[in-house]
Amino acid sequence: MVKLQMALAISIASFGGPEVLQNITYEQLPPLADEVQVEHGAIEVNYIDVYHRRGTYSLNADPKIPGVSAVGRVVKLGADVTEFAVGDRVCYATSSKASAYCEVANVKQDILLKLQSDLSDTLIAANLLKGITAHMLACHVYVVRPGIAVLVHAAAGGVGRILAQWCNFLGAYVIGTVGSDDKKSIAMQNGCHLVINYSTENVVAKVREITENIGVHVVYDGVGAATFDASINCLMDVGMMVSYGGSSGFISNINVEKIASKSLFFTRPSVYNYAAHRKELMIAFDAFLAKINGDVIQLSKPLVFELAEAAKAHVLLESRKNTTSLVLVP
Ligand SMILES: NC(=O)c1ccc[n+]([C@@H]2O[C@H](COP(=O)([O-])OP(=O)(O)OC[C@H]3O[C@@H](n4cnc5c(N)ncnc54)[C@H](OP(=O)(O)O)[C@@H]3O)[C@@H](O)[C@H]2O)c1
Repeated sequence: MVKLQMALAISIASFGGPEVLQNITYEQLPPLADEVQVEHGAIEVNYIDVYHRRGTYSLNADPKIPGVSAVGRVVKLGADVTEFAVGDRVCYATSSKASAYCEVANVKQDILLKLQSDLSDTLIAANLLKGITAHMLACHVYVVRPGIAVLVHAAAGGVGRILAQWCNFLGAYVIGTVGSDDKKSIAMQNGCHLVINYSTENVVAKVREITENIGVHVVYDGVGAATFDASINCLMDVGMMVSYGGSSGFISNINVEKIASKSLFFTRPSVYNYAAHRKELMIAFDAFLAKINGDVIQLSKPLVFELAEAAKAHVLLESRKNTTSLVLVP
């Protein structure tokens, strides 16, 4: 009889606010043939975890454990696993079944990545999905090139800080938006050339002024409902609206006439499609790792919470008061 290991996890008791996150212990089953058992060193907190907790995105598992991304070490191998060995330092960021808010997880080998870096588990884990997303946005969805103007909403946020630096590195003029004045300096330190407070300033007027009434080539909008109209109005003719999230709420209807009047492109990309194939995932991961290992993209020191305090991390993430990435440690 196999002796099962008991481990701590955070589960969603019923969909709702941070209070629905509860600590449970579970019996860790051995990995399936195509799985690798990973002991987590640090777990990323992402806005997608909030959508899973609220039930906005479905989570078909029992128990429902949020979290799609973590760094750790291999402790057991499934029968068909050949690419990994016990003791390897590994990470993953695109778990479709979620379940990363736990001490030990069985992870499909096709989403697992070997991690070679001197940077700490907490620093990398706090920024992993965010970095892969930034690569998708700046290097794939819209290929940023020198001389163009880009608008990055929530530029002091998790994806925003990395994306603004990446666009800056690629030679773009980067305009960022933030929700409060105290975040302006954070966005400036993270690659923006100009920062607008979208709670108090007229974003469209400022963008028009700085671009000599032309508009920007591309808008990266992870804020959604609250910024959609301004985003469209900030774009130049034949510009691209990249709607990659909805931290203020999702866009419900798109007025095609508004898009047609400037021959705009609209896209709603997801890393789950862009990094669906292992090769694409590895290209994105390698590119991000090269940027952070080479100090081209600076990561701010993460705020670390105990795994059992996941609810506190969610409260902070939704409060809009956090100014760095959040990470859980078992
Ligand atoms: N498409 C993809 O594949 C993909 C992958 C990863 C993440 N995402 C999306 O990217 C977005 C950013 O994710 P993240 O984890 O890096 O989060 P984050 O940017 O650290 O946090 C969200 C930010 O949105 C802004 N915001 C504006 N209105 C808000 C509201 N009503 N409630 C809460 N926040 C509000 C806040 O910045 P201000 O205070 O400055 O306004 C806040 O800091 C999310 O929408 C996420 O779902 C998409």
